Amino acid sequence: MEKRVIVAIDGPAGAGKSTLARRLAARLGYLYIDTGAMYRAVALWAIREQISLDDAPRLEQLAAHAVIGLQDARVELNGEDVTAAIRAPEIGEAASRVSALPAVRRAMVRQQQQMGETASVVMEGRDIGTVVFPLAEVKIYLDAEPRVRAERRLRDLEAQGQAARVEEVEVEIRRRDERDRTRADSPLQQAPDAVYFDSTGLSPDEVEEGLLRIVRERTSNGKEVLR
Ligand code: DC
Repeated sequence: MEKRVIVAIDGPAGAGKSTLARRLAARLGYLYIDTGAMYRAVALWAIREQISLDDAPRLEQLAAHAVIGLQDARVELNGEDVTAAIRAPEIGEAASRVSALPAVRRAMVRQQQQMGETASVVMEGRDIGTVVFPLAEVKIYLDAEPRVRAERRLRDLEAQGQAARVEEVEVEIRRRDERDRTRADSPLQQAPDAVYFDSTGLSPDEVEEGLLRIVRERTSNGKEVLR
């Protein structure tokens, strides 16, 4: 039987994790798992239920009961397609707040570990290489300069028909990163054995090739691993 492989990709908002993790999964024939989408789904439910983002006990209850389905880029919450709804900027901010709660994290991490038990996966988030799969075969910390990350986010927003100024987007990104990096439980940080990859100034194709090379080096001593 072929060995299962876990590719863990962590990094700050707007570093290109989702695009690249999805491409990498397609190239390798692995499952793609966007763990940020799970925290976003919990945040969306909380906002719809008008639960205060300071109400830890109710948010924890919600996280324990949320049925989250991930299929490639499609995200379901309790059977409803929420793929587009969770991409609103206020949901990203709310997800960052909700994800600081230890019980919410426990509920999500349990599901993420189960997903990685049955198949080879490319899983992206903030704590995949540090907490969810500390023994992952491949760990990558994907980064880019804050202005570049803000420009990427701005393009995502424009694609959703929303206007914003790059300066404002950069302030929001920096604030969210600061919260994600300084929270007590599972803060965003590079695992000691992760490969640091700076995507500033690189095209998606160039990043994809670079990441693929890292996966090959770590999984087959440089031999071809594509199926
Ligand atoms: O990657 P994203 O922007 O969709 O993530 C939204 C928020 O969810 C992010 O600001 C922090 C949180 N998150 C987390 O705490 N742990 C993860 N593994 C993924 C996301």
